[in-house]
Amino acid sequence: MTFTIVAERPEDAPLISPLLDRTFGFERTRKTVYRLREHLDPLPELCFSAVAGDGGLLGSIRYWPIEIAGTPAILLGPLAVEPALQGRGIGKALVRHSLDAAKAAGHRICVVVGDPTYYRPFGFLPASGHGLLLPGPVEPERFQVQELVPGALKGVHGVIGRGKAPAKAADKPARRRRVRRSVA
Ligand SMILES: CC(C)(COP(=O)(O)OP(=O)(O)OC[C@H]1O[C@@H](n2cnc3c(N)ncnc32)[C@H](O)[C@@H]1OP(=O)(O)O)[C@@H](O)C(=O)NCCC(=O)NCCS
Repeated sequence: MTFTIVAERPEDAPLISPLLDRTFGFERTRKTVYRLREHLDPLPELCFSAVAGDGGLLGSIRYWPIEIAGTPAILLGPLAVEPALQGRGIGKALVRHSLDAAKAAGHRICVVVGDPTYYRPFGFLPASGHGLLLPGPVEPERFQVQELVPGALKGVHGVIGRGKAPAKAADKPARRRRVRRSVA
């Protein structure tokens, strides 16, 4: 079976919330990271879908704009892969592709709250060591950060808050090339 990473399609949007409910459960929106996403759309140039040959949605990754004491940054997630198809490289492909896109778009700092064993290979490190704080409870080991530009975290510390609303997709349709993958 092959899958392709594409910019999120309009038809994916109504399928993503049910996918997140299936993968994270209905309590997911009580997490601190959801307070940072409230009232804001995700960054359109960093929303990607993994799609099957027949066009079906297999996985999704989105990012939200945040600020660290006034410095712009991005929040990775949610990332989710259809339960029956997990463990075939779809999640890793979505993370790699989107981090490349984030760097290409000029983003400098990326934060994630997730399993460190999953995210460390992509370059994430504990955020607490950088003096970063979330505006709510979090398991410290799950709170991680990555400099997308070397030195971007220098002098940056403090509480993370919601970022500025992204430009409308129609203003900035940063479509990236498709990447086709084969999985067992
Ligand atoms: C986590 C998730 C996105 C990974 O996507 P995936 O396509 O299943 O994973 P991949 O095939 O790309 O990667 C598989 C590797 O990740 C590891 N992995 C998968 N889920 C993991 C998790 N929650 N924590 C730590 N490691 C995990 C697997 O053990 C495997 O390791 P290996 O390469 O050393 O064998 C997917 O399993 C998922 O949607 N899970 C439920 C939602 C979730 O927990 N999302 C947040 C991630 S912290």
